[in-house]
Parts: sequence; structure tokens; C-alpha cells
Amino acid sequence: MSLAQTKPEHELSTGARPIGATTEDSAAANVQQMFDTIAPTYDRANHLLSAGLDRSWWTRTARVFRPVLQRPESVVLDLCCGTGDMTMALYRHRPAAPEAAPILAVDFSHQMLARGAEKFAPHNIIPIEADALHLPIADNSVDLVTSAFGFRNLANYEAGLAELHRILRPGGQIGILDCNQPEGLTGALYNLYFKTILPRLGGLISGTPAAYRYLPASVERFPRPPRMLQLIREAGFTQAHWTSYTLGTAGLYQATKKA
Ligand SMILES: C[S@@+](CC[C@H](N)C(=O)[O-])C[C@H]1O[C@@H](n2cnc3c(N)ncnc32)[C@H](O)[C@@H]1O
Repeated sequence: MSLAQTKPEHELSTGARPIGATTEDSAAANVQQMFDTIAPTYDRANHLLSAGLDRSWWTRTARVFRPVLQRPESVVLDLCCGTGDMTMALYRHRPAAPEAAPILAVDFSHQMLARGAEKFAPHNIIPIEADALHLPIADNSVDLVTSAFGFRNLANYEAGLAELHRILRPGGQIGILDCNQPEGLTGALYNLYFKTILPRLGGLISGTPAAYRYLPASVERFPRPPRMLQLIREAGFTQAHWTSYTLGTAGLYQATKKA
């Protein structure tokens, strides 16, 4: 029996694979096009479908990194920033000092980033259109990388972690906030909502049902916390841990690049 027949998908997968995508390049192109398409309705759909929990998750995550955010010289990069709400939650903890370094907000969807850029314009935040797997950022130059609900969409998780490891300074931190598939009764209720109700509602709001069928499929495929923590450690990080949010339906991965 082959490995592919004995292991569940979330243990095999090394990256997102939207339906029809057979290679990393086609997966990335598909994801980029999908977010360009849903960008105009993304914020509305997000707040509605998460019943406003998205805001509390961004706020809670930003609070965790307050010590590093408070240092004016800290270089902070919000990866897969999309329309920018996680970035804005981080920004609220930045000092007002004129010498404070700008937050770098990265996304490869032009349409998502354009909406983020409108929110960033009055603030010390620089939008950068770039692929998370090929960041235009120097080695060992960043103190904190966050990513909210974006990392799961990368075409190769190991390559994504390697890229984060490359740009972080020794002692730099990652904060990856993403959806999770809970177990037990919560998992059953979650599946009922996430796999039947959410795709219909999301499809209605966005006019792009495929994007909201991809969402539960991508969470199903995303490694569970023990496997994801293993990947993080294998990428060279230490102090890796996961904090469950809202009954395990989401959670925050934190880790530090070895000094
Ligand atoms: C679900 S949205 C999350 C946006 C925002 N962080 C939030 O919390 O609302 C995922 C974002 O990840 C971006 N993304 C996915 N793969 C990417 C990649 N390889 N490089 C850069 N951005 C990527 C998408 O374009 C999209 O804007």
C-alpha cells in the first residue's frame, strides 16, 4: 500500500491545492486570482461569516506581540495582509515616535492589497506586493512576522517557513494565526457550519461560490497543530507553541528563530 493511501491528507499536504491545481505554481496562481476576485466583498463576508470573531482574533494576536511592537526600532512584517485588518491591529500598538520603523504589509493579490493600502495611507505602513515564498526583504532583517489566515494558502508550507526564517533576525518571532479543524462535538458542529452553511452564504455575498468551497477544503488540508509545530521546529525555530482560540476553531502559532 502506498503512503498516499495510508495517511490522511492533512499529514501529507505541504501546501494549498485549490481544485484543479496540480502544481505549486498553478496553486499559487489560482489562490491569487481567487483573492483578486473576492476582494471587493472580502471584509463584509469575513465579518459576517465569522460573526465578528475575526476582529477579536486580530486584536488578541496583536496584544501578544505588544512588547516587540512597542519598540520603535522593531521591523515588523505582516505577511498575507490582504485588506489590512491584522496590520491595523498591530499598528495600534506601535509607538507614535516619528523615528518608529514602518510596518511592512505584504500580499500578492493586487486587489486585496489595494484595499489595504487605502487603510494604511494615513499611517506609517508600507504596502508591498510580493509573493510570500520570494520576499524582497534582506536576510536577518526582521524582528516579527505575523500572518493572519494567509499562511494556510501558501503553495508550500516548508518553503514559506524557510522564507520567514531567512528574513528574521536571530531571536525574531513568528505569529501565524490561522483556522483549525477542531475535534469531537465542536468539530462536528463546526463542520456543519463550515462545510454546508458558510460556502452558501459566502458564495451569495461574494458571487464566487468556488472561493467559499475552497475555504473549508483548505482548512481540512492544513496540518493540525502537532504536525504544524513539527514543521516549524524543522525550519529552525525554537519555543514553538500553539494557542487555541474560540474552542480550537482558530489558533496562534508562535515561535522564535534560534539566537
Ligand atoms: C484569507 S486572506 C487574509 C487577509 C488578512 N490577513 C486577514 O486576516 O483578513 C489571505 C491572503 O493571503 C494572500 N496570499 C495567499 N498566498 C500568498 C502568497 N503566496 N504570497 C502573498 N500573499 C498570499 C491572499 O492574497 C490573501 O489576501
